[in-house]
Amino acid sequence: MATRWLLLLLSIAESSVVLQVHGQIDKLAGFISIDCGLPENAAGYVDNTTKLRLTGDAGFIDAGTNHNISAEYITPRLARGWHTVRSFPVGERNCYTLRPLVLAGPKYLVRAMFKYGNYDGLDMLPIFDLHLGVNYWKTVNISDASSPVMEEVIAVVPGGSVQVCLVNTGSGTPFISSLSLRPLTKALYPQANATQGLVVVKRSSFGSKGIRYPDDPYDRTWLPWFDPTQWSEILTTKSVIKVESFEVPSAVMQSAIKPLNSSTSI
Ligand SMILES: *[C@@H]1O[C@H](CO)[C@@H](O)[C@H](O)[C@H]1NC(C)=O
Ligand SMILES: *[C@@H]1O[C@H](CO)[C@@H](O)[C@H](O)[C@H]1NC(C)=O
Ligand SMILES: *[C@@H]1O[C@H](CO)[C@@H](O)[C@H](O)[C@H]1NC(C)=O
Ligand SMILES: *[C@@H]1O[C@H](CO)[C@@H](O)[C@H](O)[C@H]1NC(C)=O
Ligand SMILES: *[C@@H]1O[C@H](CO)[C@@H](O)[C@H](O)[C@H]1NC(C)=O
Repeated sequence: MATRWLLLLLSIAESSVVLQVHGQIDKLAGFISIDCGLPENAAGYVDNTTKLRLTGDAGFIDAGTNHNISAEYITPRLARGWHTVRSFPVGERNCYTLRPLVLAGPKYLVRAMFKYGNYDGLDMLPIFDLHLGVNYWKTVNISDASSPVMEEVIAVVPGGSVQVCLVNTGSGTPFISSLSLRPLTKALYPQANATQGLVVVKRSSFGSKGIRYPDDPYDRTWLPWFDPTQWSEILTTKSVIKVESFEVPSAVMQSAIKPLNSSTSI
């Protein structure tokens, strides 16, 4: 079955409606968070930012080899998830199989993250493909060793398991730093259905702060979009809930921007 991927551009401006505080739904039970490349016997750990528990690859994939990124790329503030990678020098296609709880899904957000960090000591930046099951998702183009690359897709995946595959296209060895699966409700992102998925191009919160779980109960990543040379930030501590099908978290709507010079536009 051929799946058509739509491109999704989401950016949230300041227009909003102030309503009652809603209780956050805890969707934690269906979360899968893998720190790829952790040693097989390593215990999981709790991520400092999200307080979510990460585990190693065991039980999700049989292929590949574990590596640490090179010491020169490890800074004191680098989150632990970036320290290790799993790479796939053998085989054209290597897949993780994620089996979420039966109660979760079948609509998911899948996020894969990559930081090369010269883990193989070869200083060769790879380009490879990501597939979700049999469907092409994205070409990962690592353009420098230290910049993180994040890919997200929102898709309906029937059948109780989700396969994320790294495909060698002859331009270097595929590798991965971390992989996450987050169940979404069926009503969220109605554009994602059994025949088409959404590839996230950019998801930003106007303001200086990035947002993830727990401020977004689905753990979507909202990157900060702010240029202090042109804009000032407007903040509120009031809960801001807009009723729409994207369930934009209040924390995202609590920040906005305006031009420093009131006679210029944003
Ligand atoms: C990665 O580094 C840790 C120490 O930080 C070490 O124990 C482990 O053996 C290293 N793993 C590999 C695959 O080199
Ligand atoms: C995460 O928190 C632990 C314990 O507070 C601390 O030792 C560690 O340095 C922190 N790591 C990062 C990357 O901030
Ligand atoms: C990968 O990115 C580089 C720039 O960093 C670009 O020149 C090249 O065309 C890209 N390749 C693919 C296959 O997207
Ligand atoms: C998915 O959405 C597209 C566009 O709205 C529509 O053409 C298609 O029929 C939908 N597929 C299903 C299975 O509902
Ligand atoms: C603000 O923008 C207007 C129009 O571009 C310009 O004429 C004016 O000099 C700017 N004011 C400041 C304080 O930069």
